[in-house]
Amino acid sequence: MDSFRIRGGNRLKGKIEISGSKNSALPILAACLMAEGKTTLKSVPRLSDIDSMNKLIGELGCHIYRHESPASADLPALDGPLDIEVTDEKNCEARYDIVKTMRASICVLGPLLAKRGKAIVSIPGGCAIGDRPVDLHVRGLQKLGAEFRTENGNIVGEVRGKLKGCRMYLGGAQGPTVLGTINVLCAAALAEGETVLVGAACEPEVVDCAEMLIKMGAKIKGHGTPEVRIEGVDRLVGIEHRIIPDRIECGTFLVAAAITNGELELKHCNLDHLVAVVDRLDEVGVKIERQNGTIFVSSSRRLNPVEMTTQPFPGFPTDLQAQLMALLCLGDGMSVITERIFPDRFLHVGELNRMGGRIRKEGPTAIIQGVKELQGASVMASDLRASAALVLAGLVAKGQTQIDRVYHIDRGYEKIEQKLAAVGADIERVKEK
Ligand code: EPU
Repeated sequence: MDSFRIRGGNRLKGKIEISGSKNSALPILAACLMAEGKTTLKSVPRLSDIDSMNKLIGELGCHIYRHESPASADLPALDGPLDIEVTDEKNCEARYDIVKTMRASICVLGPLLAKRGKAIVSIPGGCAIGDRPVDLHVRGLQKLGAEFRTENGNIVGEVRGKLKGCRMYLGGAQGPTVLGTINVLCAAALAEGETVLVGAACEPEVVDCAEMLIKMGAKIKGHGTPEVRIEGVDRLVGIEHRIIPDRIECGTFLVAAAITNGELELKHCNLDHLVAVVDRLDEVGVKIERQNGTIFVSSSRRLNPVEMTTQPFPGFPTDLQAQLMALLCLGDGMSVITERIFPDRFLHVGELNRMGGRIRKEGPTAIIQGVKELQGASVMASDLRASAALVLAGLVAKGQTQIDRVYHIDRGYEKIEQKLAAVGADIERVKEK
């Protein structure tokens, strides 16, 4: 298992190219199971989660080919387009071996039921950020007429005849579900008649998937709002689509500039996807300016304390909660963060405290008393975003930070150490002997 060794204290300065969104690419790859002919996806990031999804849809009969793209003069090479074509529809099973490494495997459920009439998907267990049920996915697909049973740890779904559109409420106790909305949206695209999803997730990743399905021939209206209307069609066909920029990667680098008192130019991002993040960072004292698709970010030494609550889009995303907490460790006073999406998502608290942070957790709330400096330490990556927070803390901590188990970071950040090193960070990957 690789580690990162970071010597903190360098001010970051320069350009970083933002990759395509992991959380958009994963369900979009699954949706390709429904198309006839070749789909070409651009800006699919090179990540271990994408490799897992490719392996999964490969087992489900897709032929996948990755074109290479050359490195540009001053930026590390990002990856070339991905061609996907379904060549065999016999297998309908997502095995435990793959699902246990990546929960987003659940995204094949809707597409398989809609296109092949059958799906066997291993039930994803709990994960580091808490108990993550899939009841809303199943309930939504049931309303379209799929029948489900559980068998040996698998969800087995079948459709007699065709799925049938209906009006349904898709929200749960914690609000809307992102991947659940996408699963039902995909299935409804090939169902008979009209489906109306009430309480749908409005995240940019839902919109991106809907836009791709529309190019494939789907009839969808209202995506990006809580009420989505889908008129089912008979078939979807392969197309070309570019994945949206990764708003979470972009937000992580905004914090990287702020925490190192640096100045970064972030290329290929969409600040409209980060309005709540910009709002909180503005209150912290971080200066963010936009020019076309590029964001310029800089910060002054004084970081104001703030309050923040994670919420569904357009609220502050849970996937940037840990990173903001790392920044607020150095705030000039007391900050309060409340986690409303995944109330147990606080594995980074203990590790940040090992680096000198003063964070106290009370239920779904963390109270962060700002300190003058963080110190380097040996810490452990526990989940993707918690690990990103440790990298950010390491960039500013006094001395050396060693982060073990960085495979968590490799799931969701493309070439993070290369991107950070190119703008002045002292960071290296230490390969396991
Ligand atoms: N929920 C249910 N039942 C369900 C589904 C969700 O109760 O059937 C609950 C969840 O437990 C949670 C809330 O609803 O409390 C929202 O979860 P959601 O379903 O929206 O999460 P997700 O779709 O499984 C995606 C991202 C996560 C991100 C969340 C929230 C992907 C691959 N994953 O998960 O990303 O945190 O939306 O925005 O898109 C990450 O990238 O690090 C990550 C965890």
